[in-house]
Amino acid sequence: MLKGKHIVLGITGGIAAYKSVMLLRLFVKAGAEVQVVMTPSAKEFITPVTLSSLSGKPVISEFFTANTGEWHSHVDLGLWADAMVIAPLTASTMGKMASGVADNMLVTSYLSTRAKVFAAPAMDLDMWRHPSSQRNLSVLRSDGVEIIEPEAGELASGLVGKGRMEEPEVIFSRVSSWLTKKDVLKGKRYLVTAGPTYENIDPVRFIGNHSSGKMGFAIASALASFGAEVHLVSGPVSLPTPSGNVVRTDVVNAREMLTASEAVFQSCDGAVFCAAVADYAPVVCEERKIKREKLDRITLELVKNPDISATIGMMKSSGQRLVGFALETDNEFDNAVGKMQRKGLDWIALNSLREAGAGFRTDTNRVTLISAQGAVTEIPLMSKTEVARRIVEECFL
Ligand code: CTP
Repeated sequence: MLKGKHIVLGITGGIAAYKSVMLLRLFVKAGAEVQVVMTPSAKEFITPVTLSSLSGKPVISEFFTANTGEWHSHVDLGLWADAMVIAPLTASTMGKMASGVADNMLVTSYLSTRAKVFAAPAMDLDMWRHPSSQRNLSVLRSDGVEIIEPEAGELASGLVGKGRMEEPEVIFSRVSSWLTKKDVLKGKRYLVTAGPTYENIDPVRFIGNHSSGKMGFAIASALASFGAEVHLVSGPVSLPTPSGNVVRTDVVNAREMLTASEAVFQSCDGAVFCAAVADYAPVVCEERKIKREKLDRITLELVKNPDISATIGMMKSSGQRLVGFALETDNEFDNAVGKMQRKGLDWIALNSLREAGAGFRTDTNRVTLISAQGAVTEIPLMSKTEVARRIVEECFL
């Protein structure tokens, strides 16, 4: 299953390091070649002998082998890898990775690699929820590291809470599924719309909404991680462009979003409409700021914006697949199905604003994916990254 794949397994100094032995075993059994890199403190928890016996390769921990003077090239190692998996990831190494403190072989390999990096943090619950850890975590995420979140449960300290490293089987399946599918969309192109649109009233005011763009950016990232070329048309958001083959066009209002989308759609194999497009725009945008003291009451005349997904839906040729989102507050299922039909979509991802942890400004989502043929797939509450991956797998793989 993983024959010919090269994995760097990074192990840091936490009690969960004992689980990495199982993880290594799973990779080796699946046919992967694994090079283990340990931080010096990881060796306090498990012995390199166990790991080198299982991997069939000497474990690397230092820049040099003291007695022979042999230098271990972190650059070569980084280039050799198809994937780097750091499990467990301690708070200390997480901080070093986030700020580029390259004082050991593991962090230098991380900084040198062009491979996909997975990290499975493990720490005590208070360390996990400390603002510093959460800050570092979001830096790693935006640097493209796929975080395999810890579970809640009993911790080595005896405390109960989130921080326990995810089980080796789960880490194995996340990494191996990525390795086996990473190029399945190579040669394909997709359009993704994301974020809100801002409809200007005057030079300083606009009509907008609470969309953060996170779901659309996660979809773009998931498509790119399967090897696709992505055209991401984004409204005003403060998010970095996802790594991989992603071409980003920033727009402000719905008309600009439509123009940018129409310009690329013909050459695409499909599209995902994640943008929360403002339904109406002011008929006129004042050239100068509207002054408060002159007016006690104002009436804004609004005109309906173009429906981007419906317009693209009419351009669609056979073979092009379209996915939309529906954010509903009531009569959710029927409204979503109606939208899918009206807009000519092949799938619609329904999320409810009434659901805790779903919708705007959260890092998680829960969606019901409905196909034009009537298939219904429930995607439980999970990170937007994972929801995005599931949607892409269901609709495009
Ligand atoms: N959409 C779009 N262009 C618009 C409005 C919506 O492309 N002008 C897309 C969204 O990106 C989403 C889907 O259509 O994929 C549904 O958006 P939603 O706001 O839920 O529905 P609307 O069509 O705007 O209907 P309503 O606001 O009345 O629920």
